[in-house]
Amino acid sequence: MGDRKVDQNGPMRVLVTGGTGLVGRAIEHVVKEEGGAREGEEWIFLSSKDANLMDMGETRAVFQKHQPTHIIHLAAMVGGLFKNMRANLDFWRNNIYINDNVLQAAHEVDAVRVVSCLSTCIFPDKTTYPIDETMIHNGPPHESNYGYAYAKRMIDVHNSCHSNGKGLKLIGWNSNCKGAGPQ
Ligand SMILES: NC(=O)c1ccc[n+]([C@@H]2O[C@H](COP(=O)([O-])OP(=O)(O)OC[C@H]3O[C@@H](n4cnc5c(N)ncnc54)[C@H](OP(=O)(O)O)[C@@H]3O)[C@@H](O)[C@H]2O)c1
Repeated sequence: MGDRKVDQNGPMRVLVTGGTGLVGRAIEHVVKEEGGAREGEEWIFLSSKDANLMDMGETRAVFQKHQPTHIIHLAAMVGGLFKNMRANLDFWRNNIYINDNVLQAAHEVDAVRVVSCLSTCIFPDKTTYPIDETMIHNGPPHESNYGYAYAKRMIDVHNSCHSNGKGLKLIGWNSNCKGAGPQ
């Protein structure tokens, strides 16, 4: 565990994993070009060159270096339909490693909050509409993106296991990324 105790009223240091992706660049645009950051906030946008988040040592090192108070977790192996169908195992393993490492490293630096990006495609294939977050685990996802979807669902499981009253708040955000900015 990290020894640092975050001052909950102090300045925010926000670490964005996957900061060079579609969504990360959109957030960077809002923060840097549209005045989206508040005074005193520091924003750090990571790419895979800063750390391979599939590796716990590299993940821990980059979190120790930046000591974030808040994390927006976007980094993932993301594909389209055919890539998902071809490489379900890679989507499962790579995303499980990334997510587990990021959430554990956030815990170790005593971060206050992590918002992780999930996806609408993780919902059960057979479902009723409208969907909401209580329905994520109600049945298997579509077989085409089985590995990716289950890896993303496990963020929700990880978040629930962390709800231990120790202060780290973990939030899963289901998005379809259709509004991801000028890019
Ligand atoms: N795009 C969509 O339609 C969509 C829909 C639903 C949900 N989402 C979710 O939204 C989030 C952002 O998606 P996106 O479209 O912005 O993704 P993206 O454009 O494919 O970008 C992926 C990001 O993750 C980083 N990354 C990948 N593997 C990494 C690793 N091993 N270590 C460190 N960083 C790594 C990439 O870094 P490099 O640039 O260095 O490679 C890049 O910054 C993801 O969690 C995704 O699952 C996306």
